[in-house]
Amino acid sequence: MDKRLTVRDIRKRKLTNKDQEPIVCLVCYTAQMSRLINNDVDVILVGDSLGMTIYGYNNTLSVTLDMMINHGAAVVRSTTLPHIVVDMPFGSYEESPEVAFRSASKIMRETGAQSVKLEGGEEFSDTIQFLSQRGIPVMGHIGLMPQRIQTLGGFFTQGKTEKESIKLINDAKAISEAGVFSMVVEAIPEEVATKITNNVEVPTIGIGGGRNCDGQILVSHDILNLYGEFTPKFVKKYGNIDENIITAVRQYSEDVKNKVFPTEKHIFTIKK
Ligand code: KIV
Repeated sequence: MDKRLTVRDIRKRKLTNKDQEPIVCLVCYTAQMSRLINNDVDVILVGDSLGMTIYGYNNTLSVTLDMMINHGAAVVRSTTLPHIVVDMPFGSYEESPEVAFRSASKIMRETGAQSVKLEGGEEFSDTIQFLSQRGIPVMGHIGLMPQRIQTLGGFFTQGKTEKESIKLINDAKAISEAGVFSMVVEAIPEEVATKITNNVEVPTIGIGGGRNCDGQILVSHDILNLYGEFTPKFVKKYGNIDENIITAVRQYSEDVKNKVFPTEKHIFTIKK
């Protein structure tokens, strides 16, 4: 029996509903890591940020559908409790609702994930409606949309002017009405995220969206200090795995050079 959180469960998790706790989400991409976090998060997003954290690209634009499917399937295989969302990569959904359906259904079929996420506001309402009316639950993503890096010119906070914030609120309402079951709001002022949260029926999941969102999401590589390239202001670090790895490998290297590894304990002998 599947014990995973469903989209129905998540839809109910507005903080305005009685006795609700904020939704705990984490971005994670591998079997090893997802096995470790299985019991402590409500939702795992297999995010296309893996292009940067795992594959070493400068942005997420080089990520392919096959990359997302391989990582999504690994995370599904290694977990039993969290709801698993897989990101739709750049180029896999923008052209038309039909293209989006083909990509999303492939993700769902080949990974076993419960839903997909796509970046975009009102301009993707038709696509969101097309997918959700045909059995594909969609998580929205507005605010800073990393797949737009080349038109934005950098990873900047969004919605800082009145005009931009009105557009964001309209985008949130549009995708909510189109059928998303929740939405990520990334790198926007807390006041704007609060207005969005109060004006849409589905839960908002903040990453740099402040304290009043219905849930929070961060990237596992960021909170564990496994991605040293750049740390956004909204990240809180909860571990220092980078340093542990460096210390362990340095010790191993010293041991090999000084011939203190392997010892008798690590060797095989001929049976007499
Ligand atoms: O790909 C990702 O990690 C994301 C999060 C920033 C929400 O989309």
